[in-house]
Amino acid sequence: MNIAIDGPAGAGKSTIAKRSAKELSFIYVDTGAMYRAIALYLLRNDVSPEDEAALTKALSGINIRIAYEDGAQQVYLNDENVSTEIRKEEVGNMASLAATKSPVREKLLALQRDLAASADVLMDGRDIGTNVLPNAELKIYLTASVDVRAERRRKELEEKGETPDIEKIRADIEARDYQDMHRDIAPLKQADDAVWIDSSDMTIEEVVARIVSLAKERR
Ligand code: DC
Repeated sequence: MNIAIDGPAGAGKSTIAKRSAKELSFIYVDTGAMYRAIALYLLRNDVSPEDEAALTKALSGINIRIAYEDGAQQVYLNDENVSTEIRKEEVGNMASLAATKSPVREKLLALQRDLAASADVLMDGRDIGTNVLPNAELKIYLTASVDVRAERRRKELEEKGETPDIEKIRADIEARDYQDMHRDIAPLKQADDAVWIDSSDMTIEEVVARIVSLAKERR
């Protein structure tokens, strides 16, 4: 069985997906991390995704591998574990830009489908229900208001000891939503058969309980 969870940046997808997968004994696959690993390579090597020839050359030198250590997904970029480094803000923004390019999406699609074919997976991203796993038994579109998402992100950064600017966070979220929803290839949108969940006024536990119960109904 496969579960697809899509939604905009900061909707709580990864926290909720991780916990739901654990309760259901599914493997959690974070596809955003794969885009981030490619973005990290581009940043490190000063490659612009707008430069088609440079992007194609860069992609031929990138090997992305997913592994599970103590149940947690680890992302390897050419055999280096980059799971922590890819969480930086600049990497997320570059991932969103790189994800508009078809050679980048094509490179990751096969990897994502292979993972889903090999186990019961709960996969999160932007185009999982619409494009990667159109036959997933359960599809969720998880969202929250921009204000709530910005506030959650601010808290997260403060917990890391940073002093974030809420207006900048808000602007970044809006720019990322726009880019992810308006690109030509596999843009973020709710699949026709996805269950829409707005987590703005829900706790993490409530959202997880809803997903777990929907998954059990469809098993
Ligand atoms: O979920 P995230 O913030 O880690 O994802 C980073 C970017 O990667 C996101 O802004 C768009 C892109 N992405 C995508 O295009 N398709 C996916 N399935 C997952 C992520």
